[in-house]
Amino acid sequence: MDTQGKDFILIVDDSANNLELLSDTLINAGFEVAVAIDGETAIEQIEYEPPALILLDVMMPGIDGFETCRRLKANPSTKDIPIIFMTALAETVHKVKGLDLGAVDYIIKPFQQEEVLARVRVHLKLRTLTKTLEEQNTRLLEEIEQRTAAEAALQQLTQDLEKQVEERTAKLAEAMKNWQQAQTILVHSEKMSSLGQMITGVAHEINNPVSSIHGNLSCAGEYIEDLLALLQLYSQHYPNPVPEIQNKSQDIDINFLAKDLPALLNSMQLGTDRICEIINSLRNFSRVDPGAMMVVDLHQGLDSTIILLQHRLKQTGKSSGIQVFKKYGKLPPVECYPGPLNQVFMNILANAIDALEESEYRNQKVEAMNGISVRSNSPTPTICIHTEVTDTNHIMIGILDNGPGMSEEVQSRLFEPFFTTKPFGKGTGLGLSISYEIVVEKHGGMLSCISAPGKGAEFIIEIPIR
Ligand SMILES: Nc1ncnc2c1ncn2[C@@H]1O[C@H](COP(=O)(O)OP(=O)(O)OP(=O)(O)O)[C@@H](O)[C@H]1O
Ligand SMILES: [Mg+2]
Repeated sequence: MDTQGKDFILIVDDSANNLELLSDTLINAGFEVAVAIDGETAIEQIEYEPPALILLDVMMPGIDGFETCRRLKANPSTKDIPIIFMTALAETVHKVKGLDLGAVDYIIKPFQQEEVLARVRVHLKLRTLTKTLEEQNTRLLEEIEQRTAAEAALQQLTQDLEKQVEERTAKLAEAMKNWQQAQTILVHSEKMSSLGQMITGVAHEINNPVSSIHGNLSCAGEYIEDLLALLQLYSQHYPNPVPEIQNKSQDIDINFLAKDLPALLNSMQLGTDRICEIINSLRNFSRVDPGAMMVVDLHQGLDSTIILLQHRLKQTGKSSGIQVFKKYGKLPPVECYPGPLNQVFMNILANAIDALEESEYRNQKVEAMNGISVRSNSPTPTICIHTEVTDTNHIMIGILDNGPGMSEEVQSRLFEPFFTTKPFGKGTGLGLSISYEIVVEKHGGMLSCISAPGKGAEFIIEIPIR
């Protein structure tokens, strides 16, 4: 279309008559018209101002209509302009050739004005529709591209968001876990510290009267020895005392009394010795001074813990007793928090005793079931504690038992708070998680476990000397 909105048509023909006739017809029908009298001029004109449609004569001097058509179709800027050939009735081959070359139609000479106009209009309409379709198509393609891009961006965004949510959830879960751990440890250390204070107080209160009994017992022993010696002298020098004394001597069985009294005193002495030892251990064990580190002998802590667990190691009606081997190396004094470290020893030793008791219980059950002595074949329940210096600044304490050991699954969860395999009410599942916190976090050390089912368990504590 030209600037005034009229469709611009180029007529190419070497016959002036034809040109005039066609021009008039088209101008009258409201078209803008240009003319060319040969192919070459036409091509030049078309490149300068492309028309909406070309009416092209076949037979022309110079390059003919077919060659003109071929050149126009070969040029990308003119190839889409519709071409209608004008040809004489007889030239059927021409019609086919023209269509093959890319023409949209043909008009047969001599012209019927109405037919020319009708064909021109149809092809102009077709061209407009094609153009609109092409434009719509391009727009659609653009839209699809934009949508695909938007969708990809959305998908990326969703993925990013999901990742973020995942990361945050993980962080939150981690924070929750840490909080829970901190909370448990806090509650536990509060409990331990007040328990420690109570134990220290009780130990102190018992210590004074027991020390006085313990001290006076040896004195009492000497007095009794003196009195018995005096009695001996009396009976030597007065072999026949008055009947009242003789009767009393028989009544109280003076000979037995004289023999038994020193033994009695001796056992009382042993008893108070033991009480003093336990009190000492209690005070040593419950040194609750979390503020400051102290330089201490760790063997003393281990020994105190064993003494406090003595009642569980001894042979009783239902258990055969647990033997404890100590293979202590030469440890230097270690700078540590003694109270919490003693708790670690206590937790690990108590676990070993639990494990040994449990396996013994199982053995007894098997024995009862089969009527064969399984227990007599099994080695004595044993705990072995060994200590050594591992390098210039580290010591290690190994606590080993010959109990039932653990599966890999149990081992992988050992240090999780609340993980326990013990029946409800027996274990809280906190012992090892707290021990881990004390050894690793509080002392910068390491706590590990080597075990296999049926092969016992060894817990290894490593801590820096300074
Ligand atoms: N020497 C061991 N032999 C076999 N299993 C052990 C041994 N020590 C620990 N375990 C296993 O590890 C689990 C966790 O021990 P942990 O001391 O943390 O908790 P617990 O003893 O069950 O309960 P708590 O100590 O709080 O009373 C135990 O339930 C037990 O299954
Ligand atoms: Mg435990």
